[in-house]
Amino acid sequence: MEMPYIVSRRNLTCLRVIGIITVIYLATSPLYQSNIISNLLHKSHEGNDVITEEQNLYDHHHTKNRIQSGMEIFKEQKTQKELSIRTQQDAVSDHKLNKTVKGIPPVPADLKMMLGKILRRGFLDDREESCEKGFYILNGMSKCEPWLSCEEMNNGKILRKMKKIGGGVGKLVYSGLLYDKFSVAIAYSRRPGNPRLGERVRVGNENLMKFQPSPYVLQVVGHCLQGPNSTLITESCSQCTDLRRVRKRSKLGFSKFDDKQKFEWLIKIVGGFDLLHHAMGLPMVHCDLHTPDEFLTQYVLMEDNQIVMSDLDELPQVDVHNNVFASCKEETDGVMKSPEFIAPEQRYSEHDYELDVSRKPITEKADIWKIPDIASLIMRGSPLEQTIERKMDYIHSQCKSEDPKLRPTARAILIEYLQFYKSSFW
Ligand SMILES: Nc1ncnc2c1ncn2[C@@H]1O[C@H](COP(=O)(O)OP(=O)(O)O)[C@@H](O)[C@H]1O
Ligand SMILES: [Mg+2]
Repeated sequence: MEMPYIVSRRNLTCLRVIGIITVIYLATSPLYQSNIISNLLHKSHEGNDVITEEQNLYDHHHTKNRIQSGMEIFKEQKTQKELSIRTQQDAVSDHKLNKTVKGIPPVPADLKMMLGKILRRGFLDDREESCEKGFYILNGMSKCEPWLSCEEMNNGKILRKMKKIGGGVGKLVYSGLLYDKFSVAIAYSRRPGNPRLGERVRVGNENLMKFQPSPYVLQVVGHCLQGPNSTLITESCSQCTDLRRVRKRSKLGFSKFDDKQKFEWLIKIVGGFDLLHHAMGLPMVHCDLHTPDEFLTQYVLMEDNQIVMSDLDELPQVDVHNNVFASCKEETDGVMKSPEFIAPEQRYSEHDYELDVSRKPITEKADIWKIPDIASLIMRGSPLEQTIERKMDYIHSQCKSEDPKLRPTARAILIEYLQFYKSSFW
């Protein structure tokens, strides 16, 4: 009995020493600490522990989502960047093929084919395609010719300036005869010496060139930049003029044209917004449409009864992801002449004007606001006016949403219009 006692006393002392060392070691070990805490949680707060695990899962999921959306934003920014540095011609031809920005539905194949026919320009004759960028073709020409150079434009034997046919704030437009045969229009800067207006015209002419070739835009025949003078030659004809004058020239106004023709114009107008909003990677706002009348002056009716955008002087881009919004510079001195035509977020009151409130930040949805008013402006008095109003009631009322984000895209409206065209005229 002694022995075991002696042994056990000695052992006990040893065991005590080992025990103390072990306790000190374990007590200072983080692994053990976490186990103790974890065990304590399990034992005394089981419910809370479950929540803690769920919370962990939730946090993990959220962090993952945060990382994902961050990556998406990064990817999207990269795509936006890539899109904006791609050549403009690629972008415009992508638009023709409906390879457009994320989230914008493509035009269904049957409607796309119909749209192609609606947009077909008369000067193409049997040709499948319009000329490449930098070339033009006019009625009666057998092949595409390169844009005129400054020398050719300044040579009176090649290009004859005729009479004044139009002009707005920035430009003076003359009719011209090219090679004694082909009608063109020559647009000069009205005040090239004025830095603001001269620059505006130069940028406007460049915008028109950026979108070449497009069935939605006036065809460029030549351009010359000499100092602050930016002169542009475009397709024209003896009767070609803007929609405002077309309406004024006849007692019947637009009623001179049948419903099918006018609805095709509407398709072209909405398709034109679709081009500006979706073809260049980032949406561009058409800033030069302050009143219904001014809107009509920005579209020229051509010989083939097609309307084309003729004035793209101010097209600021929107980049919502990078907090970049557009604002329109030339806003009739800030006081709107027809406020109801202008989107609410862009309107000014007299009071704003007196306080010198700066230009309002907008997106391309400010253009969408105008579409129902444009549609009734074109279709007014037509036999189909009420049917169209009824059929488009839903999408048109969405265009008038106070919140710009709730307004549809130009693409969605275009598809709706094409469906109506197909069921009524095709
Ligand atoms: N190719 C064209 N053929 C016929 N008329 C044209 C042509 N281009 C412009 N115009 C006429 O000139 C007007 C002014 O042109 P626009 O480019 O709108 O100038 P601004 O920038 O000064 O408003 C148009 O409203 C239209 O009547
Ligand atoms: Mg104009």
